[in-house]
Amino acid sequence: MVAGCCPQKMRNMSELPENCQNESAESKRPQFGKRILSEDADVFQHNAWDNVVWDEEQQKLASLKVSENSTVTKSGDELLKFETEADKFWNKFYGIHQNRFFKDRHWLFTEFPELAPNIVKNDIHQPLRVLGSESQEANDVESVASCHEKLVPDMKIFEIGCGVGNTIFPILLYNINPSLMIYGCDFSSTAIEILKENPQYDESRCNAFVLDVTLEDWITPFEPESLDIVVLIFVLSAIHPEKMKHVVQQIHRYLKPGGLILFRDYGRYDLAQLRFKRGSCLAENFYVRGDGTRVYFFTEDDVRNLFTESGFKEEQNLVDRRLQVNRGKQLRMYRVWIQGKYRKLS
Ligand SMILES: C[S@@+](CC[C@H](N)C(=O)[O-])C[C@H]1O[C@@H](n2cnc3c(N)ncnc32)[C@H](O)[C@@H]1O
Repeated sequence: MVAGCCPQKMRNMSELPENCQNESAESKRPQFGKRILSEDADVFQHNAWDNVVWDEEQQKLASLKVSENSTVTKSGDELLKFETEADKFWNKFYGIHQNRFFKDRHWLFTEFPELAPNIVKNDIHQPLRVLGSESQEANDVESVASCHEKLVPDMKIFEIGCGVGNTIFPILLYNINPSLMIYGCDFSSTAIEILKENPQYDESRCNAFVLDVTLEDWITPFEPESLDIVVLIFVLSAIHPEKMKHVVQQIHRYLKPGGLILFRDYGRYDLAQLRFKRGSCLAENFYVRGDGTRVYFFTEDDVRNLFTESGFKEEQNLVDRRLQVNRGKQLRMYRVWIQGKYRKLS
């Protein structure tokens, strides 16, 4: 058994904070396309359905609902405050919630196997296994020990907006590359402090630091063109749409030629967008929550344009539509997430 490779630990660490519940709900989903609703009469027989197709009527209703709340009613001063003090709102959030409101994130290695290429996933309902972690496998597959003996290429992963480490710690557990270095930044100094206090924070394989990625210049512990993978999980949505392009251009600068962006975030007309009340709109499809943190809802085209216009090649761009059901209250909740993989040209 690989040290620390315990499914229970994985469960505790891969949860999400409370105001990320919108994405945490999806994190229980084992993988795309597992449960398809073919007869509407069956809808309340399960808690969730995958790959739900929206008809024209539903699209129209959602668009109408969004347009009802698309007028910006906040003053210029208020808009400026949400922008210039964005880190303070997140500090407050992490100060209150610490790392107590986490949820499972089983989908991470299913959707992004690049983060730990050595995991075996024969059955997603079984706990994740690492190659070489079980004796029967030792003869057939590369063991951790032999992996250490071999010359494994260095791997540098950088997570932007890493929060308290919901993604970093699972990667540290499951990526057995002895030359792995995972960097994480967040502009919330409170989040980074909490992350660093975690006993799993291993300075020999991990470096978390405070950085506001909307700044013109980045001060980083790595060189330009040195990263293999940049992870963007529910972070670009927290950044003002006018500043996203700069962030993507900076990522381009720091990725190696051939390096990869892994992106997952909120999709247009997600339930969370439809639930915003009048007065919370800050810009088109960009809103402020009650706690001062902000969120944007992407279309596939938004994501495609953002990355391809900065010199990335699209490898994946998909909408994950899921219907969650409250069987007791007979409620239907339509969730929408966008996932993409973009590669810097060699
Ligand atoms: C919705 S949370 C997601 C956290 C983490 N990626 C996850 O999925 O659990 C968004 C995170 O992005 C961080 N963030 C927002 N704007 C940022 C910026 N300009 N620079 C760095 N981090 C930022 C916030 O502090 C917060 O931790």
